[in-house]
Amino acid sequence: MNKNLKDLFIDFFVSKGHKQIPSAPVVPENDPSVLFNTAGMQPLIPYLMGQKHPYGTRLCDYQKCIRTNDIDNIGDSYHQTFFEMLGNWSLGDYFKDESISMSFEFLTKVLNIPVERLAVTVFAGNDLIPFDETSYNKWLSLGIPSERIARTVEDNFWIAGETGPCGSDTEIFYFRSNDEVPSKFDPEDERWVEIWNNVFMEFEKHADGSITELPAKNVDTGMGLERTVAVLEGVNDNYLSSVWKDVIKLIEEISNLPYEGNEKSMRIVADHIRTAVFILADPAGIKPSNTDQGYVLRRLIRRAIRHAKKLGIDINSDWEEKIAIKIMDKYESYYQELKDNHSVVLEGLKNEKIKFNRTLEKGLREFDKVTKDNTDIDGVTAFHLFDTFGFPIELTEELAQDKGLKVDIEGYKQKFKEHQELSRTASQGKFKGGLAGSGETETKYHTATHLLNAALKLVVGPEVHQKGSNITAERMRFDFSCDHKLSDEEKQKTEEIVNNWIKEDLKVTVEEMNKADAIKSGAECMFIEKYPDVVTVYSIGDVSKELCGGPHVKSTGELGHFKIVKEEASSQGVRRIKAILE
Ligand code: ALA
Repeated sequence: MNKNLKDLFIDFFVSKGHKQIPSAPVVPENDPSVLFNTAGMQPLIPYLMGQKHPYGTRLCDYQKCIRTNDIDNIGDSYHQTFFEMLGNWSLGDYFKDESISMSFEFLTKVLNIPVERLAVTVFAGNDLIPFDETSYNKWLSLGIPSERIARTVEDNFWIAGETGPCGSDTEIFYFRSNDEVPSKFDPEDERWVEIWNNVFMEFEKHADGSITELPAKNVDTGMGLERTVAVLEGVNDNYLSSVWKDVIKLIEEISNLPYEGNEKSMRIVADHIRTAVFILADPAGIKPSNTDQGYVLRRLIRRAIRHAKKLGIDINSDWEEKIAIKIMDKYESYYQELKDNHSVVLEGLKNEKIKFNRTLEKGLREFDKVTKDNTDIDGVTAFHLFDTFGFPIELTEELAQDKGLKVDIEGYKQKFKEHQELSRTASQGKFKGGLAGSGETETKYHTATHLLNAALKLVVGPEVHQKGSNITAERMRFDFSCDHKLSDEEKQKTEEIVNNWIKEDLKVTVEEMNKADAIKSGAECMFIEKYPDVVTVYSIGDVSKELCGGPHVKSTGELGHFKIVKEEASSQGVRRIKAILE
């Protein structure tokens, strides 16, 4: 059914005059306000707001979505971090009547769901927007009795975030149980499962809370594929539907354990590896890191590894590769990027596994040690587990929960922040006189090197360190520790940060310090033992502090415009940036 539901849906809407649009990448292309697409409508926001869509006014697709607020819920029978959403849209074309007719026809004629198993909710009305009588009457006319039409306010108004296109909606429920279908529909009764949401997007919500009309009345619908497949196949556990069955079976084989009794860890491994596969395959080129999408990816892979370990899987075997290949095989006829980036995915998973595996065992021992008296975990310890053993805070929390212990998250955040500030001001220096006799341009590049170093720590993570540099009057070259090719976004962010610091015209100051004091003050360097006892420390505003021989410009305003011209591998784990000042 899984294979077919997508095709049936698209075929149906194409037959109703819709154009199929391709699934957008999971990382939004032009919307930095969200890490991932969370709904089919997200890539269509500009068109719902009035821009003309090149494919016309009737669209349909299946969209890859990732909801990160669900990560900690994974392990139960229905949550997933990644899912596919089937959707059809009207951009100022049809509205409530036709939308409801088409949904009803698809459910009852294509999927052959008996009307008796369907129920709906409609918008009850509030001070601003009246009761949705049109939808109510439409459902009645299609044969849904009034006892099966519930009215709500909160659950029948849909918006993606705080602001943007929105409107009242009507939700369609399916009775999944073998019990006799109750004549009166109660949306709170868990035997009724929501399978489709039709949103009538005619308003725009603004930051001040006010609501205005959109240029056109649109329809935005969304049907969660996995959930719908599960209910149609009559299983109460999504992971037993045809979407997941073979993946779970593979995990049973690899671990030599039955699903029954090991559901939680098996679901986590299956879900997290699938989501990691789609993030790694995305054209955005995301790699595990400590920020944004990269951090989500890291969390997912590391949590999957921990649960694979719980299942007794030999982490050093190619278990993750087998699961990833199974998943890619299932989806590649729908998503070309899985074919194109097959090896990128496998390498990405493996590299992160190797990295985490180096510290996982020791980290778990450390965790057991610090909790042996059943003491809650303070911020410093949680940060230590993160910094030294690579335990994402959420992993520490989960381990603690298993033991009935608490983690001081605020304390951890505080520690994390302090560390970031420290890293930002710390960096590697140059031996005194290393650049003595530099010309004016070289001097500028020298200061730019410090800014670049500090910016990379913010963008890539505090673990970035300078590994070398080379400056000529034409350009600067900067080598730094980093396990991945920088994405366009990372490069762009780095440039932006450096250019903002240049714009801020930060003062460059120098002081002579005793080496120990310099280190204590947060200035960091590669080969501390090679420095003399008294060192010069250059600070740039409060963004950078490095042991360094100079020379430097007086303030960053002199540097002009900073531009990265190339980013490439230098050696294993070291990247090289070539940049110019224009
Ligand atoms: N955008 C609507 C949803 O995600 C259809 O439920």
